Amino acid sequence: MLKIGIIGCGFIGGQICKAIDSGAIDAELYAISDLSENKALKLAASLKKCSPAYMRIEELLQNVDLVIESASQSAVKLIVPQALEAGRDVMVLSVGALADEELRERLFRLAKQNNCKLYFPSGAVAGIDGINSASAAEISSVILTTRKPPMGLAGAPHVEALGIKLEKIEKETLLFEGPASKAVKAFPANVNVAATISLAGIGFERTKVRVIADPTLSRNVHEITVEGEFGKFSTRVENLPSPENPKTSYLAALSAISTLKKILSPVQIGT
Ligand SMILES: NC(=O)c1ccc[n+]([C@@H]2O[C@H](COP(=O)([O-])OP(=O)(O)OC[C@H]3O[C@@H](n4cnc5c(N)ncnc54)[C@H](O)[C@@H]3O)[C@@H](O)[C@H]2O)c1
Repeated sequence: MLKIGIIGCGFIGGQICKAIDSGAIDAELYAISDLSENKALKLAASLKKCSPAYMRIEELLQNVDLVIESASQSAVKLIVPQALEAGRDVMVLSVGALADEELRERLFRLAKQNNCKLYFPSGAVAGIDGINSASAAEISSVILTTRKPPMGLAGAPHVEALGIKLEKIEKETLLFEGPASKAVKAFPANVNVAATISLAGIGFERTKVRVIADPTLSRNVHEITVEGEFGKFSTRVENLPSPENPKTSYLAALSAISTLKKILSPVQIGT
């Protein structure tokens, strides 16, 4: 049975643990780790059937087959190279870390050298399967349009640098349009979505991102439009935030659970 180690026991890590505990995923939840040992122990105690050991990260990496990073971008920088060097497969949730070209190339190189798999779940968007299929031929454009209630963009470096008064926005307003490489710095909260789309398709420079403040919305809406030799498609997701961490959409946790099921299943459906 596949031995799983989870690093990061917050909302996403917790949902994955619960899915394994419920029997929905046929794998062994072997170990968990978190910067906060208390948080990890509390999660372990909440499980009914599984009893994962709390391990320090270095110990966890030596003892599992698949490492799931559901912690933070800094954890990706620090831990994922070590996991790959130890020959472990890794699922990365904090995919925004891969906007850093040097880190991206290092992780891809280490995965190849050590014959390991790196998995990036679709996260809070729909359409990664379509981008994957389309990329078997030429893709001419990928546009991500993110619409949020204005105050949902508070604190973004772009908003602060331009002194945009979010509370005064009364109608749909385009705040940013540019390559994903710039969008991830201007709106770091959008970084995971933009990064996954860029990795699947045509990269961080050619993927275009638009960020719109819309006072009529209560949910975060991500739309993707892709054009290429195949034709054109568009997807739209209206995300509900998770109850425990409003920054994370519930769909992101579900996409991690679904990726895990796909890894374990002899039957693969979808691209
Ligand atoms: N791929 C996507 O589309 C997507 C969507 C939402 C969130 N995310 C990312 O997934 C990650 C987890 O999200 P979440 O909602 O579960 O977050 P969360 O804040 O609920 O939980 C994160 C947990 O990781 C722990 N942690 C942080 N850094 C750590 C480190 N270096 N070592 C060990 N533990 C560490 C924290 O103590 C916390 O318990 C975040 O980085 C988030 O940005 C990705």
